[in-house]
Amino acid sequence: MACFFRRRIAEKLGQTLQQSEDAFMSALSAVPVSKKQQTADFRLYVNTLRLNGILPLDGDIQQQTEALARKLKQDSVVEDISAGRGLINFTCNRKLLVQKMLEPFVEDGDKFGLNSELLKNLKKGTTLVEFSSPNIAKKFHAGHLRSTIIGNFIANLKQSLGNNVIRMNYLGDWGMQFGLLGAGFDRFGSQEKLKENPLQHLFDVYVQVNKEAENNEEVQLAARNFFRQLEHNDSHAVSIWRQFREITVKEYQQIYKRLGIHFDVYSGESFHQDQVQEAVQQLQRQGLLQTTEKGTGVVDLSPAGDMSRLCTLLRSDGTSLYITRDIAAAIDRKEKYQFDEMIYVTDKSQEHHFSHMFQILKAMGHSWAERCRHVSFGLVMGMKTRTGEVVFLEDVLDEARARMLHNMSQAKTTKEMENPGDTAETVGISALIVQDFKGPLHSDYKFDWDRMLQAQGDTGVFLQYTHARLCSLIRRNGGIEESPVDSSLLLEQTSVTILQHLLRYDEVLYQSAQDLQPKHLVNFLMKLCHLVASAHRELPVKGSPQNVAQARLRLFSGSCSVLANGMKILGITAVDRM
Ligand code: ARG
Repeated sequence: MACFFRRRIAEKLGQTLQQSEDAFMSALSAVPVSKKQQTADFRLYVNTLRLNGILPLDGDIQQQTEALARKLKQDSVVEDISAGRGLINFTCNRKLLVQKMLEPFVEDGDKFGLNSELLKNLKKGTTLVEFSSPNIAKKFHAGHLRSTIIGNFIANLKQSLGNNVIRMNYLGDWGMQFGLLGAGFDRFGSQEKLKENPLQHLFDVYVQVNKEAENNEEVQLAARNFFRQLEHNDSHAVSIWRQFREITVKEYQQIYKRLGIHFDVYSGESFHQDQVQEAVQQLQRQGLLQTTEKGTGVVDLSPAGDMSRLCTLLRSDGTSLYITRDIAAAIDRKEKYQFDEMIYVTDKSQEHHFSHMFQILKAMGHSWAERCRHVSFGLVMGMKTRTGEVVFLEDVLDEARARMLHNMSQAKTTKEMENPGDTAETVGISALIVQDFKGPLHSDYKFDWDRMLQAQGDTGVFLQYTHARLCSLIRRNGGIEESPVDSSLLLEQTSVTILQHLLRYDEVLYQSAQDLQPKHLVNFLMKLCHLVASAHRELPVKGSPQNVAQARLRLFSGSCSVLANGMKILGITAVDRM
């Protein structure tokens, strides 16, 4: 347990500097390990103490560092304290490190790191995460895939940190595109094709009617009529619309299931017709909505109030826009779910949309809009399957599975298994996820089948392979015994480095909770896999004396739990054989 050591060092600092020890808990950080050289366990940047008013800002920082290091006394837990450049290093007793770090795995390995004192400071409550949110009958593009897996990660993370999480899918199921689709279906649609391959058929109809509408006024008129009928609750229009929606949701659910993702609520733009009216009326009462010469309804967002930045909420015919529906939806969600925070996950092209929306909500007096957050991400370039530009997510998943199955059949290490196809699918999806999560979410990246499926290198395949190999090691050696481990048997540098690395896990979760970026966790797990690979070579289990073998197995199985827990938060199902 990292916090045992962190607490001890914080106490020492507190006594020496006559401050509350809590001031030091988050200032201390575990030192990133290096395979090449031994490192201390924790460090403290003296500048943090200066910035927090604990040490004078005008003193010479190196002198302060050395003076403080001299004042701090070693003891049987913190055995070495030394000054570095502007920082103080702390090294703990090795045997105690082994003992304390392996302890939690005996009781409840799934909770490793999650009970840390560091994480207790995070606010807990109800978090609504809205993600995926594809548009019915339009293409489910790479952006929706990103939103789906990133949102799932955020929901998993928030949940494991003790929040009550609501996972919501907000379907693009309203708007003029339904006028087109409805009118198009009346012309080119077929109920048979709709049953056979619904997404494809709706998409085909949509493409065809769009093309037709370009220079055919009759079609345009039919589309407007259809949408008007829909808005006026005409039973024919509503029943067609409902059918499209239901079929599409059912299809998407299949895909979400393959991804191991579920939603608590399928909401959509269509849900908020009445609330849109209420919100508009409220904006009018508050004098926030103004009518332009063209007859549109706008809100002025310019800081100076000079109408230099307008946001349109109503078309001249009185119909609502995307943002109007979003404002109504947010108010409705707050009333229904009483969330403490709400997170939206979409690509970065919608940054303005969300910032406008939050501003308008605040102007309306909804102070909770402060706790709404937009997590945005960059573009994926070149997501193509063998047959060409991707339209359907299903094709991407099929291809990931096929390619992985092929790679598995080529690899010498592949084990016999009952359902190679299922394993290939799970591993292929991990590869997609890791490729996506490796960098900062805001960056664009190039989709690359070959690179993401490499068995070596920082890929989802490597994560899965390491996990499966650990599971197999534990299986082959008859599992873990209950008896306590002799910590003096795990003092080799290789073991200590792994345990030092595990000291960082709670910090990694803490940081992820702050900025909601999956890369911290991905990098942490990758590093763990590399350390485990060295340990496989240097700490053999087979052929070692029984007590040594057991001690090593304990280290491997602890690493295996952390790997599995971390993967689960990322949204990856760990396979135990591959
Ligand atoms: N359906 C939208 C799209 O595909 C994304 C919805 C995002 N969520 C929201 N509340 N606006 O672009």
